[in-house]
Amino acid sequence: MRARDRHLPDGYVVTAALARVGYDFPALTSGPPCSRRKIVPDPFSAPIAILDLDTWQPTVSKDETARYARNLESGGVLVLPRLGFGLTDDERRFLDVRWSDGKAKNISLDGDAIKGAQGSAGDLAKMTAMVARFATQASGLVAQLFPRYAPYLKRARTSYRPHPASGRNVSWRKDDARLHVDAFPSRPNHGERILRVFCNVNPNGEARVWRVGEGFEAMAQRLLPRVRRMLPAEAGMLHALHVTKSRRSEYDHLMLGLHDAAKADASYQTDSPQQEVRFLPGTTWICYSDQVMHAASSGQYMFEQTIHLPIEALYEPERSPLAVLERVTGRVLALRA
Ligand code: SIN
Ligand code: FE
Repeated sequence: MRARDRHLPDGYVVTAALARVGYDFPALTSGPPCSRRKIVPDPFSAPIAILDLDTWQPTVSKDETARYARNLESGGVLVLPRLGFGLTDDERRFLDVRWSDGKAKNISLDGDAIKGAQGSAGDLAKMTAMVARFATQASGLVAQLFPRYAPYLKRARTSYRPHPASGRNVSWRKDDARLHVDAFPSRPNHGERILRVFCNVNPNGEARVWRVGEGFEAMAQRLLPRVRRMLPAEAGMLHALHVTKSRRSEYDHLMLGLHDAAKADASYQTDSPQQEVRFLPGTTWICYSDQVMHAASSGQYMFEQTIHLPIEALYEPERSPLAVLERVTGRVLALRA
């Protein structure tokens, strides 16, 4: 089913939010400059905001930054339908799964080393340059949109994902086609944020399709009662056994518990409030993936940049998952720096 578009006299297009319909974000390369799209999101789901920007180094006013930050930090998704990641003619051949080593889920760049890829030394060097260019542009975009973040922004892994988003034979816990917030078992983050920039580079017109679920607090209220308390010796033991790279905080424990509780519950997956969002090729989107309930339904060929931000970098720290979980549980869940 498609969203229904209503053309208004002033040139805006309002997409009516019907129950469980998808949004399309077409590349706005044609049409008069006034043909901006304004989407009215489903009031029960995360706010989807459209940014009409076509450069990785945009100039934005203080007011725009404030609006975008409010949306992002409230668990929204910022969608830039006119901002694509440009590949050179030579790089387009990398849009093929044969460059994956077949073992790792993604091709990734962590520091200077490319992982999960195969090819000649020359090809690997070119792939590294391509992924590194995405890393530079994606982090530059975030610093430009949110000047307050710039000094805190820690660039983490960059991934190029040549495989189809779903259909791989994985366990329910690893199945990202189920609604979840991101939480990583071996890498405790003590409340530090996970901001991600995505770009669909599919050459065949195929959208990346997500389901975006209910707000973080509503999800936490519903699923927290199913998450057991962390045992007194648990964090120390996991660290000593090298299951975790540092000591797991109670925050990390609860986030993993919420991740698992959502993915394990078939009726939560189908019946909780959600909307389908279709990111067309040439679209970039940004969200806090530790806060937005998301599931990747389909699509192929995407870049993704992970950025870590400490709580003190936020415009409104009280909206963070750590603050929300501390409010809901009435406990301190992670030690502040
Ligand atoms: C995820 O972050 O869960 C998957 C996103 C995607 O592959 O589109
Ligand atoms: Fe995820």
